[in-house]
Amino acid sequence: MAMITLREARHGDAQAIATLASTLGYPVETAVMQARLDKILGLADQLIVLAEDENHTACGWLTAHAFGTLASGYRVQITGLVVSAQYRRFGIGRQLVERAEAWARSLRAEAVVVFSNVQRTESHAFYPAIGYTNTKTEAVYRKAIS
Ligand SMILES: CC(C)(COP(=O)(O)OP(=O)(O)OC[C@H]1O[C@@H](n2cnc3c(N)ncnc32)[C@H](O)[C@@H]1OP(=O)(O)O)[C@@H](O)C(=O)NCCC(=O)NCCS
Repeated sequence: MAMITLREARHGDAQAIATLASTLGYPVETAVMQARLDKILGLADQLIVLAEDENHTACGWLTAHAFGTLASGYRVQITGLVVSAQYRRFGIGRQLVERAEAWARSLRAEAVVVFSNVQRTESHAFYPAIGYTNTKTEAVYRKAIS
């Protein structure tokens, strides 16, 4: 198994992030991803971590957001996680989530949460295996703002 390193994302990572996002089922143009990345890069309440192999090829990423709610307190939510297909089951997903947990601890967040589509079968084996409990099932409502 290749040596994997984790690092925080940079401006120049948009293309690699976009390529991996398509794995997640969210195909996106690099320019669109660049704009999304630049909007949250460097913000204190946002974490963007890239996993790279020994050739500095991106093989996974995680994004997380820290925020407070009156109902549930201050928490970190994993807002995106993907590991490229050929690198799965080598512990990269676990390492990325552990990085988010360390960040959450450093911010004194009360919990790390993640919402995962019921159709993502790998993720429903993954999260329980690394200590996460399925606490509820919700519907997602959306309204585009023009
Ligand atoms: C879910 C995902 C991120 C897991 O990444 P990964 O690097 O393969 O996960 P790890 O190797 O760290 O797995 C840790 C443990 O989780 C469990 N696990 C992970 N994937 C599994 C699978 N497909 N089937 C069964 N168990 C699985 C295992 O117990 C594994 O430990 P083991 O390999 O020693 O048995 C990856 O499958 C993925 O990118 N899937 C598509 C996108 C996705 O579902 N993202 C989550 C959206 S919230």
